[in-house]
Amino acid sequence: MPHINLALIGFGNVGQALAQLLIRKQYDLKNQYDISFTVTAIGTGTHGAAINPDGIDLNQAISMIGSKASLDALSTVPVPTDGLSLIKNCRADVLFENTPVDYETGQPALDHLRTALELGMHAITANKGPVVHGFKELSTLATSRGRKFYFESTVMDGAPIFSLFRETLPAANLIGFRGILNSTTNLILSRMETGEDFDEAVTYAQSIGIAETDPSGDIDGWDAAIKVAALVNVLMGISLKPADVDRQGIRAISARDIQQAKQTGKRWKLVCSARRTGDRVTAKVQPEMVSSDSPLYSVDGTTSVVQFETDVLGLLSVIENDPGPETTAYGLLADFINAVTPRQ
Ligand SMILES: NC(=O)c1ccc[n+]([C@@H]2O[C@H](COP(=O)([O-])OP(=O)(O)OC[C@H]3O[C@@H](n4cnc5c(N)ncnc54)[C@H](OP(=O)(O)O)[C@@H]3O)[C@@H](O)[C@H]2O)c1
Repeated sequence: MPHINLALIGFGNVGQALAQLLIRKQYDLKNQYDISFTVTAIGTGTHGAAINPDGIDLNQAISMIGSKASLDALSTVPVPTDGLSLIKNCRADVLFENTPVDYETGQPALDHLRTALELGMHAITANKGPVVHGFKELSTLATSRGRKFYFESTVMDGAPIFSLFRETLPAANLIGFRGILNSTTNLILSRMETGEDFDEAVTYAQSIGIAETDPSGDIDGWDAAIKVAALVNVLMGISLKPADVDRQGIRAISARDIQQAKQTGKRWKLVCSARRTGDRVTAKVQPEMVSSDSPLYSVDGTTSVVQFETDVLGLLSVIENDPGPETTAYGLLADFINAVTPRQ
């Protein structure tokens, strides 16, 4: 297989975990798939950017970010001024797009991925925004250029969800799904069961790096809603935006509610669901009390689960225990291998 040049736009938790995984797996990729690669471009928002056609030292780039140095110093060509100029000038074969999500527009990731595909690159992302705001457009563009637009890590991190349907469930029709897709709220609800109040549980989730400084995207159900929208767009073929999901977060659940549920053998969960009726879909994110006979009952802490109902297999569940940037990075790596490896 020809040598492959990679560009990484977004070099935060996920971008750096991907860089570490690429280093760790480089011999497996060569030995098992005949894939050899060089990272020739890295772009960030405020930590600089670099293009080096001879290859960027990934360990050096990670350590520079750690010490708050600008990546500009690693560039052997004029430093690109923004993400689009990096993509246009890097001459990579594959773009990994891992910038922060924008729930309402999918930007700037949407433009980054579109430009990469137009230039003949495979486009791979963990960013949910461009999936819900541009799945059809980007997939059609990828097909027209003989390239792949893959996004396994957007829902349940590295667990196979989209590739499960794409590669292993031919002609299966998805009727509906139910699951717990947001780790932060599940952790908060689990902590509240041990006696913490809502604010204490949020503070704990922030202290271990699970919840952001502004945790409203998780707590108000937006992260869960965009994941529901991504599954509906891709797996059901129905266009749905995050704002179209009937969404309710967990702010209104009190410590008293949690204890009352516990006394009746139930647990509060932020449940994501969607169900198809003809060409329409009903999609929801809402807190529900679940009993011990539900597959969602025993899902603790940051673990996620989804149960799919198809017309061929009945119910099929996927559980992912304690995900993190490393598992997200694996989804990106799997997409990369699947994109560049010829199908049997
Ligand atoms: N963390 C996870 O485990 C996880 C799991 C699944 C999916 N995701 C998704 O993966 C993506 C990345 O997450 P993360 O946790 O790595 O976020 P992060 O730590 O905040 O990193 C974001 C990166 O994107 C860069 N960036 C921001 N705006 C940019 C722009 N306009 N052009 C170029 N680069 C830009 C940032 O640079 P500066 O720091 O210099 O601003 C930073 O390098 C998000 O879309 C997230 O939803 C994350």
